[in-house]
Amino acid sequence: YTPSLCNLFAKNFYIGAAVTPFTIKQQEELITTHFNSITAENEMKFVSVHPSEDEYTFEKADTLMAFAKENDMHVRGHTLIWHNQTSDWIFENKDGSTPTRDQLLTRMKTHIHKVMGRYKGEIYAWDVVNEAISDKEDEFLRPSKWLEIIGEDFIAKAFEFAREADPHAQLFYNDYNEVNPIKRDKIFKLVQSLKEQGVPIDGIGLQGHWSIYGPSIDLIREAMKKYASLGVRLHVTELDLSVFDHEDKRTDLTKPTNEMLSLQTERYRDIFQLFLEHRTHLESVTFWGAADDYTWLDHFPVRGRKNWPFLFDENHLPKQSFHEIVKLQ
Ligand code: XIL
Repeated sequence: YTPSLCNLFAKNFYIGAAVTPFTIKQQEELITTHFNSITAENEMKFVSVHPSEDEYTFEKADTLMAFAKENDMHVRGHTLIWHNQTSDWIFENKDGSTPTRDQLLTRMKTHIHKVMGRYKGEIYAWDVVNEAISDKEDEFLRPSKWLEIIGEDFIAKAFEFAREADPHAQLFYNDYNEVNPIKRDKIFKLVQSLKEQGVPIDGIGLQGHWSIYGPSIDLIREAMKKYASLGVRLHVTELDLSVFDHEDKRTDLTKPTNEMLSLQTERYRDIFQLFLEHRTHLESVTFWGAADDYTWLDHFPVRGRKNWPFLFDENHLPKQSFHEIVKLQ
């Protein structure tokens, strides 16, 4: 007998999986048994839903919404304003000129209203702005067309448009490398300043693209504490634990080693233990996939290298890490 992962936790604590129209078929039973929330891995991103100015393509996103509805699952929206997977047309006028700040703000507003409006009341939280902070030590915001054309307040504006579009959705700032002290302090500063300006932001999303080697539990704890001190909610939005170190470029493994799996088990146990300590402000943990047969890490950062980052194996069977999490209850 295998207990259901999401049923181990309180009813208002969501365990999510990033899904695609393919995985909701391929992994249907696993996803509907163990998860009570989904996120579209790519299907709600700018380029997916708004490929040209007057064209919206919601078919795939709608398929995922229907799946959630059928199975009584919550949906986290990902993502409205990002530097990646964003259509070029928004940054370039038909005559080749660059849009003015006002033009781009209007396009941003239209996009946010259209996408959030379509799923109004059906998506409980949105990653409004994704990955706007720079990874470079001496740089605050990441250079992007949004920043270049609108200016630093593109972030505040995105949140304002989002609040208008669906006043009941929780609005998140989401980022990776989020427990690294230098980046953590920048994310903190950004969100603190948004709150001081009265910008409507409800939470910080910690992507959680971590590995079996790090970051340390202490660093994760410190970041969660620091973010929570701003009085915002926390979501872990894209959790996966790569079995490879950053330096490790091996491509020849066809299954994870026993050592990898036991490290992964320990890490998952410690991480979930920590999450449970933070139950008052941590309300949802979404994995960036569901089982080891499909993960974006099979193509990132090394193309075509298999990875095994989840609690369920390639046959959708629970791994030891799953059993350790069950024991925490
Ligand atoms: C990734 C998807 O998993 C891939 O399928 C796609 O090719 C690229 O994007 N941070 C994010 C996610 O916020 O949107 C990214 O998703 C992974 C990193």
